[in-house]
Amino acid sequence: FQEKKKKNDSSAGYQPLFKSFATDAVHVGSEPEQWNSRAVVPLISLSTTFKQHEPGKHAGFEYSRSGNPTRNCLERAVAALDGAQYCMALASGLAATLTITHLFKAGDGILSMNDVYGGTNRYFRKIAAEVGFDVSFADLSKIEEIKAALKPNTKMVWIETPTNPTMKVVDIQGCADIVHEHNKDIIVVVDNTFMSAYFQRPLALGADLCMYSATKYMNGHSDVVMGLISLNRDDLYERLKFLQNGLGAVPSPFDCYMCNRGLKTLHLRMKQHFKNAMAAAQFLEADPRVDRVIFPGLPSHPQHELTKRQCTGCPGMITFYIKGKLEHASTFLRNISSTSISHSAVFFSRASMTHASVSEDERKELGISDVLVRLSVGLEDEEDIIADLDQALAAAVSISENILSENK
Ligand SMILES: Cc1ncc(COP(=O)(O)O)c(C=O)c1O
Repeated sequence: FQEKKKKNDSSAGYQPLFKSFATDAVHVGSEPEQWNSRAVVPLISLSTTFKQHEPGKHAGFEYSRSGNPTRNCLERAVAALDGAQYCMALASGLAATLTITHLFKAGDGILSMNDVYGGTNRYFRKIAAEVGFDVSFADLSKIEEIKAALKPNTKMVWIETPTNPTMKVVDIQGCADIVHEHNKDIIVVVDNTFMSAYFQRPLALGADLCMYSATKYMNGHSDVVMGLISLNRDDLYERLKFLQNGLGAVPSPFDCYMCNRGLKTLHLRMKQHFKNAMAAAQFLEADPRVDRVIFPGLPSHPQHELTKRQCTGCPGMITFYIKGKLEHASTFLRNISSTSISHSAVFFSRASMTHASVSEDERKELGISDVLVRLSVGLEDEEDIIADLDQALAAAVSISENILSENK
């Protein structure tokens, strides 16, 4: 039975699943014993202020920006899922990035993966650099180039893996080892948004901080904007806790409640995203209307073996190059059915639209062209997703036929 189960398991060959992940997602931080009512679901604690036993002596909470019971439940749950000692919830993924960057000061060097989420790129280039950070970018998936990219003033190395939208995979352990051998004080951060805690544990692979835009998979229902930072180091926690309160970019208790609720099905959702994405990627790869598919779960991905070595599976993000020109890509996107666009199966717009702050030259260098399409494969029925892709590709091809017949 076990052998048969193994054969049918799409995660075969990957890292083994993290032990007790689902149990922890359901229970850690939600213990009924913490409430007098024994509620099995965390209470939404809206109070901004908490009564003290006597001046200066409180029962764990003082003021809701510095600490909130509902936020505390979420932070404990995420820490457990990341195999971390601590977690901090912030108002958005970018608020988490901002808070982390405040660990450093003007003149300090930030080395970032060159292909990162457009908003992260914009923050580093147009805000952090403007206030004096020495920001540079390199392809950190090329392990042999990392050392040369480090500068004497480098204080933080920012990894996103897989990258967005070109799906490059960074060897987290390899990168962290090189950086820490060079200087153990450099903080290695991994943006784990795409993999989620279910597929990847950056802290166990040598990263100092693991951050998320919880707006994506961690919450998973497209109804909360939030950021998360998990970590093990006491000194960094103390400093980041100071910054969480001092900068004040904290999420509302309601959003913390919602994200915690979303976490309880993270394992179920990610398994299905993987299954659906694998089916969509295989369909696209076999299709003559498609030039090339980039999905770390496909053996054709240049870092497929690395992905299996450092992850337990792959999320729903797929990039592909449609055959033709810009019009083919935009026709494809216009024809993706609205039912797939709703809920979590968002078919993304042309990559250049999400990367408005990345220059033309950089986009070219990164392989972001007009025919690049990124999909976020959701949780609908597999056959409906494939049928939707098929009809949208057919619509894209039909414009070539129209052009040909017009030219006759
Ligand atoms: C990989 C990644 N990191 C960070 C962010 C920023 O997060 P937020 O939108 O929650 O501020 C995003 C948002 O799309 C993202 O995709």
